[in-house]
Amino acid sequence: MSERLIITIALLLAPMIAAAESEKPLGWEDVSAIFVERCVMCHSAVAGASKGLRLDNYAAALAGGETGAVLVSGDVAGSELIRRLRGQSTPRMPFLSRPLPEDQIALIERWIEAGLPEMGGER
Ligand code: HEC
Repeated sequence: MSERLIITIALLLAPMIAAAESEKPLGWEDVSAIFVERCVMCHSAVAGASKGLRLDNYAAALAGGETGAVLVSGDVAGSELIRRLRGQSTPRMPFLSRPLPEDQIALIERWIEAGLPEMGGER
């Protein structure tokens, strides 16, 4: 293969690889990074889980709190966790702290729409 052809192919593939990267399926790993930073200080076994809700592991997060699930697979509007993040349900979360940035809320919403997968894409 000529050098020029190789370069041409590389240039054609680069944007496709970049696109695949941004559409990589989300998994627990991605959302839990947000929960660890902003939520687990009040929602884990160690801290004493507020309203019985733990966000420090996948199974507990899906099980929800005292009143049941806060994450509904494929149903963003029906997920209490999102309503709390957007202040549609009060008190807003994170409790007594600044709201999450929109891109983090959007990431959690994409994960809910994707069906709450535990495993994301290959990385
Ligand atoms: C400073 C402590 C604190 C932090 C940080 C916090 N929470 Fe909470 N959370 C609470 C308390 C207290 C409640 C119970 C409030 C109430 O009466 O509904 C609660 C309730 C909730 C509920 C409702 C549970 C249910 O069963 O109805 C959800 C969902 C929730 N939190 C999600 C989150 C998420 C997501 C984060 C991080 C982005 C977060 N919280 C951060 C203290 C906290």
